[in-house]
Amino acid sequence: MGALSGLVFLWIGGWLLACFAAPGRPPVVLIPGDLGNQLEAKLDKPTVVHYMCSKKTADYFTLWLNLELLIPLVIDCWVDNIRLVYNQSTRSTESPPGVYIRVPGFGTTYPIEYLDPSNVRVGIYFYTLVQAMVDWGYQRDHDMRGAPYDWRKAPNENKDYFVALKKMIEEMAESFGGPVVLIAHSMGNVYTLYFLNQQPQEWKDRYILSFVALGPPWGGVAKTLHVLATGDNNQIPVISSLKIRTQQRTAVSTSWLLPYNNTWSADTVFVRTPAANYTIRDYERFYKDIGFPEGWLMRQDTEPLIYQLSAPRVPVHCLYGTGVETPESFVYTDFPDKDPKVVMGDGDGTVNLASALNCGRWRRQQAQPVSMFELRGTEHIAMLSNVTTIDYIKRVLLAP
Ligand SMILES: *[C@@H]1O[C@H](CO)[C@@H](O)[C@H](O)[C@H]1NC(C)=O
Ligand SMILES: *[C@@H]1O[C@H](CO)[C@@H](O)[C@H](O)[C@H]1NC(C)=O
Ligand SMILES: *[C@@H]1O[C@H](CO)[C@@H](O)[C@H](O)[C@H]1NC(C)=O
Ligand SMILES: *[C@@H]1O[C@H](CO)[C@@H](O)[C@H](O)[C@H]1NC(C)=O
Repeated sequence: MGALSGLVFLWIGGWLLACFAAPGRPPVVLIPGDLGNQLEAKLDKPTVVHYMCSKKTADYFTLWLNLELLIPLVIDCWVDNIRLVYNQSTRSTESPPGVYIRVPGFGTTYPIEYLDPSNVRVGIYFYTLVQAMVDWGYQRDHDMRGAPYDWRKAPNENKDYFVALKKMIEEMAESFGGPVVLIAHSMGNVYTLYFLNQQPQEWKDRYILSFVALGPPWGGVAKTLHVLATGDNNQIPVISSLKIRTQQRTAVSTSWLLPYNNTWSADTVFVRTPAANYTIRDYERFYKDIGFPEGWLMRQDTEPLIYQLSAPRVPVHCLYGTGVETPESFVYTDFPDKDPKVVMGDGDGTVNLASALNCGRWRRQQAQPVSMFELRGTEHIAMLSNVTTIDYIKRVLLAP
């Protein structure tokens, strides 16, 4: 009897929650960027690159982010687990033999709030925004959910993700009595654009209330050329750029985000070396000269995915940082292994302003409103925790 009334109570409680979560508060799905959610690995490898690397693990462990795995020596093991192997006949990637990778917590917020579960002070990501939303009445994993994915790959290799995302949006819209707001950051925006471009208009009209794009790299990011050529440790001195470069090169998403001629002139020189000037037209040679020729295949596989920048045909809020020095081109004396002199331009420190501003073109291409909002002096990651951003999102969600 006691157990039964407890169950009934829970059932009524769940029902009340489902009914009352909705009014005036649309359900929200959060879509992270490149490197922006946890990945877990389980190992049963035939060989390892160093005697100190684990060959076999009993269970899944956090592969990203765990800073302890990125220190000298140990990083060799890490790279050999997180790298992807490109298969030229299937034109797709897989993990090295005996490495099993999974994305934990689809539908929950924890994998995107903090990247390193063992050390919450480093790698705060969506936490501040999620916590603000809790203060406005949202509930984690209920009417506010995360949509993490394998960010090493581009959308062409993440088909199951889009199926799961679509299903989750439909379920949330039905449970909470109204369409969903999508809030994406960085590469999550190009993932979201790709997703919306695949959906019929009736589906979007029914299920999507609006799309909030934070720091969107619509036309690519110049910094990726440096990442591919030399590696980028994001100025964390213990991490070797040349070692992390292997991960960064084999991640197809890095090549997907190279600059596009829909944003930059085909004559723009992004990389200058004593031997060559590389523009968008020279990518094939660039990949060959950095010693990663299969990257050119990855680029060709992924270039068409959102190249057209077709309007998403849902209401858009496009928020972009300006006034932060942002890498625009690179001058090498020792190519590609020694860091170049970096020429800076405008943007949020990562995304070049011209790339973010592409959402402006949709004002002419879709009937749904497109709002542009400049975050002056706001850096790419910091914008997620910035009070101006959070106030903007509050207005979108609570005072539509
Ligand atoms: C590439 O994929 C094909 C088809 O699955 C497979 O037969 C082949 O062994 C793979 N190549 C490599 C190098 O793994
Ligand atoms: C721009 O890039 C696209 C995609 O690679 C290509 O089809 C097109 O010819 C390029 N246009 C110019 C002007 O270079
Ligand atoms: C690269 O371009 C600069 C400026 O246009 C030019 O002076 C230089 O000779 C070019 N370098 C090569 C290797 O073509
Ligand atoms: C937050 O964004 C606003 C508007 O762009 C900017 O003025 C402010 O400096 C930012 N705050 C921080 C702490 O970055």
